[in-house]
Amino acid sequence: MHMSASALPVRLSDYAAPDWRVSSVEMEVDLDIASSRIRTRLTVHGDGQRPLRLDGEDLELLELKLDGETLDKDRYRQHDDALEVDGVRDGSVVETLVRVKPAENTKLEGLYLSGSSEAGFLLTQCEAEGFRRITFFPDRPDVLATYTVTLRANRARFPVLLAGGNPDGAGELEDGRHWARFVDPHPKPSYLFALVAGRLEKISRDYRTADGRDVTLNLWAEADAIDQCGYAMDALERSMRWDEETYGRNYDLDVFHVVATHDFNMGAMENKGLNIFNAKYLLATPDMSTDSEYQHVEAVVAHEYFHNWSGNRVTCRDWFQLSLKEGLTVFREQSFSADMNSPSIKRIEDVSLLRRAQFTEDAGPLAHPVRPSEYREINNFYTATVYEKGSELVRMIAGRLGAERFRKGMDLYFDRHDGEAATIEDFLAALGEANRMDLTPYLAWYGQAGTPRLRALGEYDASQRRYTLTLHQRTPATPGQPHKHPVPIPVRMALFDRGGHMLPLHLRDEEGVPSRECVLELDGAEKQFVFENVPEAPIPSLLRGFSAPVVLEHDYVPEDLATLLRADPDGFNRWAAGQQLSGRAFDAMLGGETSSAALQAWCDALCGLFEDADIDPALLAELLMPTSEIELAERIEQDVDPEAVHAARESLLDHLARRIGGERLEDRYDALQSVASDDLDPVSQAHRRLKKTILRLLFCVRPDAALRRAEALLAQTGNMTDRLLALHTLLQGPHADAAAAAFRERHHTQPLAMDKWFAVQAQIPGTETLQRVETLLDDSAFTLRNPNRVNALLGSFSRANPTGFHRADGAGYRFLTAKLAEIDALNPQVAARLANAFNGWRRLEPVRREAAHEALASLASEHALSRDLADIVQRALE
Ligand code: PHE
Ligand code: ZN
Repeated sequence: MHMSASALPVRLSDYAAPDWRVSSVEMEVDLDIASSRIRTRLTVHGDGQRPLRLDGEDLELLELKLDGETLDKDRYRQHDDALEVDGVRDGSVVETLVRVKPAENTKLEGLYLSGSSEAGFLLTQCEAEGFRRITFFPDRPDVLATYTVTLRANRARFPVLLAGGNPDGAGELEDGRHWARFVDPHPKPSYLFALVAGRLEKISRDYRTADGRDVTLNLWAEADAIDQCGYAMDALERSMRWDEETYGRNYDLDVFHVVATHDFNMGAMENKGLNIFNAKYLLATPDMSTDSEYQHVEAVVAHEYFHNWSGNRVTCRDWFQLSLKEGLTVFREQSFSADMNSPSIKRIEDVSLLRRAQFTEDAGPLAHPVRPSEYREINNFYTATVYEKGSELVRMIAGRLGAERFRKGMDLYFDRHDGEAATIEDFLAALGEANRMDLTPYLAWYGQAGTPRLRALGEYDASQRRYTLTLHQRTPATPGQPHKHPVPIPVRMALFDRGGHMLPLHLRDEEGVPSRECVLELDGAEKQFVFENVPEAPIPSLLRGFSAPVVLEHDYVPEDLATLLRADPDGFNRWAAGQQLSGRAFDAMLGGETSSAALQAWCDALCGLFEDADIDPALLAELLMPTSEIELAERIEQDVDPEAVHAARESLLDHLARRIGGERLEDRYDALQSVASDDLDPVSQAHRRLKKTILRLLFCVRPDAALRRAEALLAQTGNMTDRLLALHTLLQGPHADAAAAAFRERHHTQPLAMDKWFAVQAQIPGTETLQRVETLLDDSAFTLRNPNRVNALLGSFSRANPTGFHRADGAGYRFLTAKLAEIDALNPQVAARLANAFNGWRRLEPVRREAAHEALASLASEHALSRDLADIVQRALE
């Protein structure tokens, strides 16, 4: 057994306030590529009962002083991951000087080099525990200090020097060097520290906040990308206005920097006053970016900006509270995006992501509560559960309060905890107290893993004109949590008649004018709700807007779901009904029933909608697509065969395409293409979305007609959405290699376009794709050192290509584990995230299960794994 010695878990229940606090941090940083020196003076406070313990990793200690006096070896102890200093008193100044090696830092955590030694630039990434790779410090989020940072470097090599905070002087030094100082007056935890140095260009904009502060907004990128920042700048300005209008929150420094890098482990980082972005979420041009990438840029820019209040001004007491900032900020970001774009399409996208990423996580070996109770490696908890489910919890609570009371509660939360490190309890208390309500029952959601199953049973009594709805909840066991408690579940609902009209709701014991939609609160294991004056057996529309993150179980007859799909005035619910219906059709198909009632009802309803002149084309595009293979596989309890799942879904598409007919598909595609433009306006985007769906369906019935259109599209289009659609289609035809080569030729100098080139090829369904992926590893543009590139090729293959990765012979599994070992040696975070592809292995059919198990087990036994990867592999194998 090799897998590296597992560290002891950190437990929420062991939380203790820090022995020592730090009031101010003064840093002087001498920057260079190969080696940088960092001098840090900490003013510390504590009762002196215990030695001062500072975290530190991969640091070479050059000097250590206490209150100006250099310390002898017997006054401190240096461990692998910490420095312990004796004799420190309240108000002491502790000074360290360390050396680090940025160019050798392949983990991209701490101070590292982006790009090449000759042309690249230096930057930092500290969340969660990267600051300890820059200097010795009590590196935990409940230690808040003000920072004064002086940067020094050679001016020619590093003309731009940036750190978080307001500028506080700059000037020349000897030998071609220069300096710049920054003061951040807002106390912050170390994970929000950042600096950047190198050759960067900027675009700037003046912004005046609602409360009257003049701010300079600077977006920075390398010279070849600076003209790709315009869209992000607009998005930033929209985000700032929105937060002022929606939450009354203003920006609080004189300057706000955002920097793009191609070498980044995550999406982006909200460092105080100096956000750092994965270029993928900042740069955008029509020639290079798809419509959905534009939306991601807008959303991520907003997300990081919103963190300035939800995360920075009010931060987290410890990493168990991560969702306090992430769930809340995702919720704020989603609300913003809904306001900027189509709310129902946005909700469809968010819920389908939740189901694909979070429900699957919650059903596998890595299931954990939104607030975990223990971790071995905190980097492995930046998960769909903490982010996406966390956002759903905030949404649920906001819905429970209503907009006005939610705002009142948020005001209290921000004001009460400004400058503090808070907990989930603090959040619920503020929201509740501002409104004299008790929200503590919602705490149960934060502590319990697993997706609740909500079972709904409707009974109609014609003689009494009464409809009784019984709601029942049950949460399946998850690792380490065998017994579950009921959680409060708000069920937004309506009743429809057979003609698809909403019925007025006369809920028994409720006064007032009957509404057409209401929210039922299931606050225990089971509850009944009685509706009076119901004229006919109604069709219930449940969980409208996805009012709670649960799996709904209700025995609809297919026609009833079809009625909702056809007639529900809310776009999200139409989609939800269609998803349920396609799920039922899938179940039947998998069971060998090739013309089930569900399939007929689904095709009938969609055929009708296809002819509906009034429907939003973007919505139609979503309605026409059955549930993803990943979600469909979740419907199967045990012995999942990804190939059978794929085949069954393909035949759903096939049936639908045939039912609509090749002719009508061609006509509709051609009509859309005849008015096509490359613009980003909502109508053009909606048309592109629908074109994609139609081409997909057309490929089922008339592949040659689809391929011809893809060829033509490739020749004509000036936008990446269409170009990628064309390439995706052509990759499944006889001229796949020529199409791939042409795209490569056109885009080989653009890293973000090349990522798409790798990704789209890795996603070609079928067992042969492994061969293609192996060949692509040797492409001169491929490297294991760049996280985006690794995710594009290996992430897409293992997570978005079920038939390719889950080859019955296990070759996909062995391929991935071999690469994991290599990547782990360079960048543990990237390896650990990639290893998530194995999460569902236990539910596979026996042959694949055995193969996956063997691959994982040998990865664990033959290599010394990082703590990050070992943690994931261990939990997967447990
Ligand atoms: N805090 C960042 C965000 O959501 C994510 C992140 C985590 C980035 C860890 C880098 C490292 O918004
Ligand atoms: Zn975030």
